[in-house]
Amino acid sequence: MREKLAALQARALAELADVGDLEALEGWRIRVLGSRGELRELQRGLGGLPPAERPAVGQAFNQAKNALEGAFAERQAALNALALERELAAQRVDVTLPGRPPSVGRLHPTTLIIKQITDFFVSMGFQVVEGPEVERDLYNFELLNIPQDHPARDMWDTIYVDPPEVLLRTHTSPMQARVMERQQPPVRVVVPGRCYRYEAQDATHEWMFYQIEGLAVDEGLTMADLKGTLSAFARRMFRPDVRTRFRCDYFPFVEPGVDMSISCHVCNGVGCRVCKGTGWIEILGAGMVHPRVLEMVGYDPERYSGWAFGMGPERIAMLKYDIPDIRYFYVNDLRFLEQFR
Ligand code: DAH
Repeated sequence: MREKLAALQARALAELADVGDLEALEGWRIRVLGSRGELRELQRGLGGLPPAERPAVGQAFNQAKNALEGAFAERQAALNALALERELAAQRVDVTLPGRPPSVGRLHPTTLIIKQITDFFVSMGFQVVEGPEVERDLYNFELLNIPQDHPARDMWDTIYVDPPEVLLRTHTSPMQARVMERQQPPVRVVVPGRCYRYEAQDATHEWMFYQIEGLAVDEGLTMADLKGTLSAFARRMFRPDVRTRFRCDYFPFVEPGVDMSISCHVCNGVGCRVCKGTGWIEILGAGMVHPRVLEMVGYDPERYSGWAFGMGPERIAMLKYDIPDIRYFYVNDLRFLEQFR
């Protein structure tokens, strides 16, 4: 019986050494030390021994049991430690990994270009003012020398809010009269803002777009002030060597009226697809404020003269950044918007 016990102990310890995980360990425990395990099985034979031998063999049993239990506890501790180590390794966080950058908001390209444009005029002594998008016919047309039934109204396809008097402004020019009626000359303002037209959309037309109006009124202002200021603007906005061209154009609120073109930045005036072979690109309308317009706000046209302009900032941005379609500005596609900062 002693030999059997020694053999069992030796085998069980050898098996225990091979046990690789907690599950296998539990199997070993049940098989060796369980209430129906091998040790108990052998122990049952104890009763068949002569009484004189029993105490010694019983002691041997207890020793073997203690040894096996001790080995089991040791193995269990080791396997527990191993399992914990594995789990920690699996959940390890690499604190040196770079974090995910938060996506930062930015200004809209229209806002950015308006700031660039108005910054130039502010540096020339102009003030920035804003006005209502829902406007009265009086300011949008009447005080700009465009009376009811004047054919020039066809130049603006108007969206009316409450006809015939309330409309969405078709340009920023109504602010000319609003500024002049509340102050005396000298006037130097630029007016950025939204405008609306009942218009089919395409690559160069939107029903909502921005304009920047400019107005200067003082004693002795001439066409030379207009040309000088707007040419300096073009040089700042595009290239220092850009050339400007002024041609006659008609707007009811200016006389003479002009449009200004810049030499094509793609072909430098030679003629290409962008400038449609002309070498020039039109960027704004302007002119000397019509004496009737001055008169209607109570300025004396014999004493004061002025010049004005209106431009589309989206168009300026399209030329400057080579943007092929004005509709990109207002569909909120981040792939487009994120290119500007
Ligand atoms: N308001 C005009 C338009 O929307 C643009 C314009 C032309 C404004 C000449 C002006 C100007 O102030 O002098 O077509």
